[in-house]
Amino acid sequence: MAPHTTLGPRAAITGVHAWVPPHVVTNQDLTRYIDTTDEWIYTRSGIRERRWLNDDTLATSDMAVEAVRGLLIKKNLQPTDIDLLICCTATPDMLFPATANIITDKVGAVNAVGYDLSAACSGFLYGLSTATAFIESGRFRRIVVVGADKMTSILNLEDRATAFLFGDGAGAVLVEPNTEGLGVMDFLLKSDGSGRNYLYQKGGGSLNPASHRSVDAREHYVHQEGKTVFKFAVTGMADVAAEIMERNGLTADDIAWLVPHQANKRIIDATRDRAGLPESKVMVNIDRYGNTTNATIPLCLWEWEKQLHPGDNLILAAFGGGFTWGSIWLKWAYETTN
Ligand code: UT7
Repeated sequence: MAPHTTLGPRAAITGVHAWVPPHVVTNQDLTRYIDTTDEWIYTRSGIRERRWLNDDTLATSDMAVEAVRGLLIKKNLQPTDIDLLICCTATPDMLFPATANIITDKVGAVNAVGYDLSAACSGFLYGLSTATAFIESGRFRRIVVVGADKMTSILNLEDRATAFLFGDGAGAVLVEPNTEGLGVMDFLLKSDGSGRNYLYQKGGGSLNPASHRSVDAREHYVHQEGKTVFKFAVTGMADVAAEIMERNGLTADDIAWLVPHQANKRIIDATRDRAGLPESKVMVNIDRYGNTTNATIPLCLWEWEKQLHPGDNLILAAFGGGFTWGSIWLKWAYETTN
């Protein structure tokens, strides 16, 4: 994939908002379900606690709606102002219709086209890259990219290899044209389907539709071969972040923030080391939210929003199921005043 260029306006994030469920589940709480300790989980992953939606009547779209409504209020926009809503998720409300359609209906975005994007933990970066292309082409002017996952809906609380890793949450960004040279400067996306058997949800699709057998075999839960995924993730995420910096002539001094997908603190540290960045330039909140899959990066941007300034160089990076991975270099486009 060649470095990205555009002659027209750039696509800039002009607002961010997020929502996490209020119910906090600590590592200690998890010892009720699995044979584990707070020390093991924190040392191996960097996670202390996560949020669970804990309500069978609520789904991924409900969390996304909270994030999108908050974003519109912050930006003083009406739902009818949105042209396109891309929902990046691995846990859609249903296989179809798209969760994006449910979100646009619930928020009243009647003028918006909506669709879902499936790229596991890299979904938000794929979604932001897609929005970038639409903004640069002039086809849409106001795009919401929302990353949302109710990971507890596919979490096997008897599997100690995955039960501690994931949490629920949603984050949304507004993407608009910018004529001052700010916004997405380059993106680099990668995928390798030969990794598909290491991190997946086997049941529920056309290959293994829901049946008594599939439920008994626990095929509707997330399955991960942690060690293998770790091995690919630790090099994949570090390599792609380093590659986007190198091909754009960026050094560590040029970077204000690394915004990594929050899957494991050890993977984040490897990416930071490879980019030559100090810990003070890396957004980390995995300790409080765990891995919220498509929501991790917008959750970081939301929490750090007040510390971001126009022109700041941000490197976003992710690795996830598929395998999918990628990185985005963007120049932050606004100052937060309130
Ligand atoms: O976001 C999408 C991409 N996903 C990732 O990037 C995640 C990648 N993988 C990982 O982050 C790590 O593999 C984990 C954090 C999931 C696991 O860490 P690990 O260092 O790879 O542990 P492991 O699976 O190799 O297990 C080490 C030991 C095993 O015991 P033995 O065989 O050495 O005796 C496990 O049985 O730890 C044991 N173990 C546990 N012990 C306490 C596994 N899970 C637990 C647990 N509590 N929850």
